[in-house]
Amino acid sequence: MKTMSPWWIRIPVLFFIIFGLMEYSIDAGDQLVIVKYPISLLFLLLVLMLLIGIELILNSIENVLFQTLSKEAKERYLTAKTTKREWAWGKRIWQKLTGNKPLEEEGEIILDHNYDGIRELDNELPPWWVYMFYATIVFAVVYMARFHIFNGYDQDIEYQQEVAEAQMAIEEYKKNAKDLVDINTVEFLADPIDLKAGESIFRSNCIACHMADGGGGIGPNLTDEYWILGGGIKNVFHTISEGGRDGKGMIAWKQNLKPLEMAQVASYVLSLQGKEAAAPKDPEGTLWQDDNGSNDIKERPDEPNAVGPDPS
Ligand code: HEC
Repeated sequence: MKTMSPWWIRIPVLFFIIFGLMEYSIDAGDQLVIVKYPISLLFLLLVLMLLIGIELILNSIENVLFQTLSKEAKERYLTAKTTKREWAWGKRIWQKLTGNKPLEEEGEIILDHNYDGIRELDNELPPWWVYMFYATIVFAVVYMARFHIFNGYDQDIEYQQEVAEAQMAIEEYKKNAKDLVDINTVEFLADPIDLKAGESIFRSNCIACHMADGGGGIGPNLTDEYWILGGGIKNVFHTISEGGRDGKGMIAWKQNLKPLEMAQVASYVLSLQGKEAAAPKDPEGTLWQDDNGSNDIKERPDEPNAVGPDPS
């Protein structure tokens, strides 16, 4: 009987092939199949036992057959078996890769000079090296044609692509991490859930001065289009976060509210625009116009070199 490889190679190799096939063919998302479906461990155990069982059966068949041989045949079989165990194919591949002449044939390539008994073999260049060298030549030609003759992509494009990809990844990340908003990234949150959250924040913090309908009291009317500190989501967010002018009574809410909460309440405040308030306060500040949606941060009237309306 011909044995290709010993059992301690056959069993693990087959086992891992089956394991690999299982992982490949069953979809378990990012997880390993054995992690997601622990029952598969049972299957693997069965496979392992089956493999061992097959080996045992093969072994006993071999034994039985061996017993039926004549004495002479038994001896032949045993010698054949021990020599086969050598890694003949491994040796052949090694021979091919290095191109070494076997020791017995070295006589053919010995050079005839002789330095104090030290002699030189005229070995071929090892094929593994030669083929790699050819490969580099092919690579160089392809590379030159692609990038120097046909002007393939260059570092600049590669860089821009990567930046664009990273930008997309950042956008994606921010979408899932709303708490990261700040004055530069804040946007009007049109989602009813956000507006609802904004409303409840407004009700519990702001109505004492701005009234439940935003009509204004101690604080200005938030339903009209006139803003003291600038309209648009960025300015409103900024006002809520940093507070109003000193001494006017509008504190900086960034100590009490999270960035997302400030964005929600700012969105809610803007959603009050145009609503009829029960007792609206007279407009204060200037008429705010969102020119093409650009809502640059307004210069605050209390800041140096302010150009805003007279703070009165
Ligand atoms: C203690 C009273 C008080 C409370 C509470 C208060 N505000 Fe104000 N708010 C004011 C005053 C006063 C101003 C005007 C500030 C100024 O003139 O600088 C103002 C201004 C504002 C402005 C800018 C209006 C404009 O015309 O530019 C916004 C927006 C605003 N408040 C939102 C809120 C929100 C949202 C809350 C709750 C988180 C809140 N305020 C809580 C008193 C208050």
